[in-house]
Amino acid sequence: MNIERIDLPKIEDFRGNISVIEKNILPYEIKRVYYLYDVPSSAARGGHAHKEQFEFLIPISGSFDVVLNDTKEKRTITLNKPNKGLLIKSNVWRELENFSSGSVCLVISSGEYDEEDYIREFDAFEAFVKANS
Ligand code: TYD
Repeated sequence: MNIERIDLPKIEDFRGNISVIEKNILPYEIKRVYYLYDVPSSAARGGHAHKEQFEFLIPISGSFDVVLNDTKEKRTITLNKPNKGLLIKSNVWRELENFSSGSVCLVISSGEYDEEDYIREFDAFEAFVKANS
């Protein structure tokens, strides 16, 4: 599957820890940063794939599950450590669910917001993968 777990450096200190994302950690230039917060525990976010864009997800606070499907394989990955992120490359369907109370998902994207890069129907995603394989 077109994903990668990435461990971020953790600078431990009795006053609190620091994790840093700087050059070379991500295989692209950062073009956009956004975050999901105040997500009700019963809600699901995502529900799409990207044709080109890569996204790096970090559970800045709390935890949530990322349900992944590339049409050949399905996987669920729980993100619950602020220094362990998930890089989702292109052509992977993702759904985010089971958000803990107060959790925050930071997303670092390789592209500016572009609705043309989204595939929001799973049938269309399957057709896109087939056509491009
Ligand atoms: P959407 O991509 O559907 O959210 P998610 O997949 O995380 O559940 O986006 C929800 C709305 O927010 C949609 O109208 C587009 C808008 N939006 C922006 O304008 N810019 C952005 O960078 C993002 C991620 C969303």
